[in-house]
Amino acid sequence: MASSGNKNINAKLVLLGDVGAGKSSVVLRFVKGQFIEFQESTIGAAFFSQTVAVNDATVKFEIWDTAGQERYHSLAPMYYRGAAAAIIVYDITNQASFDRAKKWVQELQAQGNPSMVMALAGNKADLLDARKVSTEEAQAYAQESSLFFMETSAKAATNINELFYEIAKRLPRLQPVPNPSGMVLMDRPAERVARS
Ligand code: GTP
Ligand code: MG
Repeated sequence: MASSGNKNINAKLVLLGDVGAGKSSVVLRFVKGQFIEFQESTIGAAFFSQTVAVNDATVKFEIWDTAGQERYHSLAPMYYRGAAAAIIVYDITNQASFDRAKKWVQELQAQGNPSMVMALAGNKADLLDARKVSTEEAQAYAQESSLFFMETSAKAATNINELFYEIAKRLPRLQPVPNPSGMVLMDRPAERVARS
């Protein structure tokens, strides 16, 4: 049906997390399909963009990859303000990075944008022998904090595209739109929403 029309959506997305958790690596894998063993620590922030197709919509992510070093912390609000989505990255082999991730979640929740889609990514999932943060602990935390959770590996390309796709699907502008009469208007067939 012609009226179902394609939608093009731009979505600002920010990555936050501890130094070395793998933010830049996750982005590099998603945007360029590459992995660098000795990725340099980010200075300030870096910008990337990449598009994802979700049903009949195209979501163009405008990605801010922030620097995890503490001295750049004060810059972070510039990047998360107005963002439609955030990925908070920790390293499953580093308990301190998980604690840092929780602090970022608190900061984002305190800045008060309830419609921001927040994802928690437990990265370096390829390093199973060195795991310090259990999947169960992170999953439970994510659930109680209303975050979407996935373990990822930028190195092994595990769950990277999936992470961004799941975020795209959850963007409010791709959700059914309530109208003033109280009826829910679906902008695409309901079964296609439920399917994926
Ligand atoms: P800052 O920019 O300093 O905040 O760090 P970052 O979060 O951007 O981390 P970065 O992507 O630079 O990765 C840090 C190191 O971890 C690099 O040496 C990466 O190669 C490595 N790394 C990143 N992701 C993975 C992964 O999934 N598995 C493994 N084994 N190593 C990874
Ligand atoms: Mg980086």
